[in-house]
Amino acid sequence: MKKAGKFYVTTPIYYVNDVPHLGHVYTTVAADVLARYHRLEGREVFFLTGTDEHGQKADQAAARLSVPVEEHVEAHSAVFKNLWKDMGISNDDFIRTTDKRHKKVVRQALQTLYDKGEIYSDVYEGWYCVPDERFWTEKDLKGCGSGSSFGDGYGFGEANGAGFGDGSGLGYKEICCPDCGRPVQRIKEKNYFFKMGKYRDWLIDHIKNHDGFILPVSRRNEVLGFLEKKLEDLCISRPKTRMSWGIELPFDSGYVTYVWFDALLNYVSAPGLYAQDSRFDKWWPADLHLIGKDILTTHSVYWITMLKALELPIPKRIFAHGWWTIDGKKMSKSLGNVVNPSKIAEAVGLDQFRYFLMREVPFGLDGNFSINSLINRINVDLANNLGNLISRTLTMIKKYRGSVVPRKITGGTNVENIKTAAMNACERYSSHMGNAALSKALDEMIMLCDELNRFIVKSRPWTLAGKKGEEEKLDDILYGSAETLRVIGRMMVPFMPNSAQSLFKQLGLRAGYDGGTLEWGCVEGGHEIAPEGALFPRIDEKKADEVKDSITRPRGREPEKKSLEQKISIDDFKKVKIVTATIISAQPVPKSKKLLKLQVDIGYEKRQVVAGIAERCSPEELMGRRVLVVTNLKPVKIMGVESNGMLLAASDKGKLILAGTSEDAEPGLRIT
Ligand code: ME8
Ligand code: MG
Repeated sequence: MKKAGKFYVTTPIYYVNDVPHLGHVYTTVAADVLARYHRLEGREVFFLTGTDEHGQKADQAAARLSVPVEEHVEAHSAVFKNLWKDMGISNDDFIRTTDKRHKKVVRQALQTLYDKGEIYSDVYEGWYCVPDERFWTEKDLKGCGSGSSFGDGYGFGEANGAGFGDGSGLGYKEICCPDCGRPVQRIKEKNYFFKMGKYRDWLIDHIKNHDGFILPVSRRNEVLGFLEKKLEDLCISRPKTRMSWGIELPFDSGYVTYVWFDALLNYVSAPGLYAQDSRFDKWWPADLHLIGKDILTTHSVYWITMLKALELPIPKRIFAHGWWTIDGKKMSKSLGNVVNPSKIAEAVGLDQFRYFLMREVPFGLDGNFSINSLINRINVDLANNLGNLISRTLTMIKKYRGSVVPRKITGGTNVENIKTAAMNACERYSSHMGNAALSKALDEMIMLCDELNRFIVKSRPWTLAGKKGEEEKLDDILYGSAETLRVIGRMMVPFMPNSAQSLFKQLGLRAGYDGGTLEWGCVEGGHEIAPEGALFPRIDEKKADEVKDSITRPRGREPEKKSLEQKISIDDFKKVKIVTATIISAQPVPKSKKLLKLQVDIGYEKRQVVAGIAERCSPEELMGRRVLVVTNLKPVKIMGVESNGMLLAASDKGKLILAGTSEDAEPGLRIT
């Protein structure tokens, strides 16, 4: 039965200082699965994701790349948007904190709180971690080099620096951020504070009185544990003198809004808080904030008390899932183990990748990614189990019934077992989906595959084929098998939308079929199937090597770099004169390890060109090589040697790759 109602689900809005990775994909795919599920159930869905673009991280990332910060966040936001297309994400909106609509809401919310006396200014003195943009209390601090904890930024805000001595208790060694391990600075400045502390008792009650508000239960207990301590007020401003990339406070132009206070409000700015229409009332409160466990405190404490102070309804649920590692290690750019999700999807299939992510770890627990476990999961569950089951069923229908699915037999008793098994599985599946227990929901789907396999083996349709008096029994069994596959397909839809569509097509259901309902007998039968070959091809050893190769290709060639490229016009390009040339001599440049002095024949004259390639090839190897040279660069002196042009070359893991031409190309031909 279709259930009415609405479902508003959010993901965190991701920082734009880094390339998106498996972790971001995990949360967003999970939200997508739930959005698709609730749409299927007949609910109106609002699925929101977006990017968190203010604050020091974005500012510094842009500075590192020497691009204006606006350009940087624009490009990176586009990287996320493109990735969501690649991942089949069905979000209804994409909010950027630099959107006008968002900034307006943040300023209005701040003004509202200020007018209500929920925000005050005070002088604050404390230890500040510049890269993490947060204050630490004395008791949090450690000497450098100690291990890191999982902080997500609580604990800044002790007004008046209460309890902060001069740090003498910590001795003279350098004092470091407990989170990132980098040195912290002692800072004294005026700031604005949100009176978060006074909501502590109310928040504890709210959590205790609303079962399922914070899930999993272990996370709920973690938050309650955190609230056992005194809850400090929250510093919500940053002086522009320190960092100006943010939303200006409406009541003090010397400050911008602290990035978390800005970011959390995305959940209400997107559905239109303070707008002159009814959209906000329709969607708010959110039904589910899906987040990683790293940002549990900001969501369950800051966000909820902010809403309380704004007198807005409280979201129904916060679900904090676990943490992914890669081959047992933290994913990080510096470890070079950040796999590109688009490449994985390309190599093994998007639906297969989505399935792996949702099925591999119980939703809420930590997980580990390895290419072997990915391939293994696909082969065992999808290629062998489900894939074989589909082809087995379709083959029988083809062989015994001329490719026509028998009609439903009302009261047919031969399918009772599988029908009951399927309906029980559906019930459990729905209940798991309702609790965001995504891997358990998929377990139900796989267990139903096992059931159907057992049913077929037990009822031995091959012994009935062609036997007089057994026609109806065989019809019943074949219909039951096809109908169970239809139910399995319906369970697949939110997770593997494309594969579910192909399954329906092969089962002979019309194009664009939505899977029907999770009830038995949706399909009448009497129609023809359309088998098409394996839905989930097995990844054999040879293919597995290819997959590994393509996923672990060096980072320099990752496609996301493309969208950060500065585009030039064809006219710009035409200004560059590139010609074919032959290297006629090559010598090291004295006192330089890197440079070679080359004489090149460019047809109409000889040129001297200095190239930084000495570490990657010897002068002898270069003699006589046909190469490409830029000839109209302004001459420069490099280590005292004049260079009058540039050799085109790339480097692949320290190996020199020369741009060249075929052996018969005359020197002096212009490349256009
Ligand atoms: O925290 N395993 O953004 P962020 C699982 N802008 N999930 C992971 C993960 C991993 N290894 N790494 C990241 C921010 N995630 C803020 C949020 S919301 C108002 C502001 C996922 O780019 C997970 O969902 O650091 C985590 O909570 C989120 O990415 C953090 O993304
Ligand atoms: Mg993070």
